[in-house]
Amino acid sequence: MDDNDSVKVSRRGFMATSAGTAAALAVPLNGAAQAAPEAASSSAVSFEVNGKRHQLQLDTRTTLLDALREHLHLTGSKKGCDQGQCGACTVLVNGRRINSCLSLAVMHEGDRITTIEGLGNPSKLHPMQAAFVKHDGYQCGYCTPGQICSAVAVLSEIKSGIPSHASADLTARPLLSSAELRERMSGNICRCGAYLNIIAAMTEVAGGKA
Ligand code: FES
Ligand code: FES
Repeated sequence: MDDNDSVKVSRRGFMATSAGTAAALAVPLNGAAQAAPEAASSSAVSFEVNGKRHQLQLDTRTTLLDALREHLHLTGSKKGCDQGQCGACTVLVNGRRINSCLSLAVMHEGDRITTIEGLGNPSKLHPMQAAFVKHDGYQCGYCTPGQICSAVAVLSEIKSGIPSHASADLTARPLLSSAELRERMSGNICRCGAYLNIIAAMTEVAGGKA
């Protein structure tokens, strides 16, 4: 065997070894790709929405927002970002506001949930809904259900004396100031920029001046 033969052999050996290694690697990868998808688990959950009790059997990964919109067909709560950034999905749970896109429905066993549909209706508006209409607190309206649910909760927080980042004195009752309202509403984004009118609506409902 001359030097050239030795080079040929080692090249052939190298190719065979490489092909063998690639095949060995390919087997587990293909095996993993062909594995049967894990079965989704479901769970029963019961909660009250707008005064009506619901019993649902849900995929445990279902968010509260999707349970409301897709299973109960309450489409007032909107899906904006679906990741806790915009506030369009805000609903009240036991009187407190949450981003329903960030909460799993099965975590709400026994809870009392209020959506925009439960606050009022066209023939009997909630005072905050009426104030939004009066002060033009919206343009396209996409963020509005979340804004109104948040606004209702904010006035209740202030009334209960819960301070915010904008409160100068954490032990005193928070002021009904524009700074307080803006800080507390900062998680609700309005692409149409109706912020000034939203503050005016909230101020009127609170019976004060902002
Ligand atoms: Fe929930 Fe944007 S959709 S915060
Ligand atoms: Fe259009 Fe707020 S009214 S996003």
